Amino acid sequence: MRSDVRHLADALVRVGRHRFIPPQAWAQPPGAHGYWIDREARPHEWWEAVHSETVIYTQLDDGRTELTAENAARTYAPTCSASNPVVVSAFLRLLAVRPGDRVLEIGTGTGWTAALLCYLAGDAPEVTSVEIDAALAATAEAGLRTAGTAPRVVVGDGEDGHPPGAPFDRVHVTCGVRDIPYAWVAQTRPGGVIVLPYAPAMLLLRLVVGEDGTAIGQFHDSCSFMPLRGQRPSRPATAETPPRVRELTGDAEALLDPEPGLQFFFDVFLGDTPWATGPGNALVSDGVSKAVVAGNRVTQTGPRDLWDEAEHLHREWNRSGRPGLERVGVTVTRECQYVWLDDPTAPAADILDHREKR
Ligand SMILES: C[S@@+](CC[C@H](N)C(=O)[O-])C[C@H]1O[C@@H](n2cnc3c(N)ncnc32)[C@H](O)[C@@H]1O
Repeated sequence: MRSDVRHLADALVRVGRHRFIPPQAWAQPPGAHGYWIDREARPHEWWEAVHSETVIYTQLDDGRTELTAENAARTYAPTCSASNPVVVSAFLRLLAVRPGDRVLEIGTGTGWTAALLCYLAGDAPEVTSVEIDAALAATAEAGLRTAGTAPRVVVGDGEDGHPPGAPFDRVHVTCGVRDIPYAWVAQTRPGGVIVLPYAPAMLLLRLVVGEDGTAIGQFHDSCSFMPLRGQRPSRPATAETPPRVRELTGDAEALLDPEPGLQFFFDVFLGDTPWATGPGNALVSDGVSKAVVAGNRVTQTGPRDLWDEAEHLHREWNRSGRPGLERVGVTVTRECQYVWLDDPTAPAADILDHREKR
């Protein structure tokens, strides 16, 4: 019998990412400079980029800005891409689609993942993919037809899921999510799986839906995805406050370069991870408040005392036995959602006593 990994490898080979990449696009390898790819002008480079660990941007500014080399280099507002194949594979391993599964994808984009889902779901795939941008949906649908596969592509807001197709066995979200819409949980059968990029921590989250309609999940590989259209971060209002200066009493170094578990708490509860800006200097900012460490002095501005909060989280994390990612997760109920530590029924914010610090 074929293993899941073998089945996924077959899907990646048979579906062919190249079928879903436009002749001209912007290749963005992780941690490196991006570059313009042009199938006519430089076919070898285009092919190499398509078959490498490279995100490929296919739209800017919701289509308002033309995708050209100059605009892609200048603007950092890509709004559609064919995701990094390594991350797509990690996602699909977590999702574990089996032949016959009823699958919902949120964020059709180029259509590549939808085609992979169809391959994995077997001979008569029941795959629905929701895309908010009508022009992208039309291009993806055409590409999918040319590739010989036909998921149902629906134009709409994926935050609503797709009630007519429910219940789903698998839900695959390919946009960054901050607040997990309960509609996805409600439309997944008990025992079904939802995978999504959890934006606050930039980690893949795999949720399993229980009989009681509650979804419980844990974190996996790191990832970075463009956010759901309705959950894009708004430009924070700058809150001018007089700087609050104090002496640094703790060890600033202990907060820098944190282990994954501590980094998780920083990202989720602070909105940033403290980082070194030079020898003896550090910075943490949530976009509104800012804390700067220079030598033995801490200067904090904005409504939050972020360095105090970082030190508090560090102490609580130590007190909790320095938990790694295997001890944290997310619970989504009809009424609320929260991050937990060890116990899926208890919000970590309570355990960390974080709310009292705000
Ligand atoms: C990273 S791309 C998806 C990659 C895609 N799965 C692929 O294989 O090319 C994100 C897509 O999500 C779409 N999107 C953003 N917000 C959405 C929403 N609320 N509902 C549906 N689609 C959305 C974007 O328009 C974009 O096409």
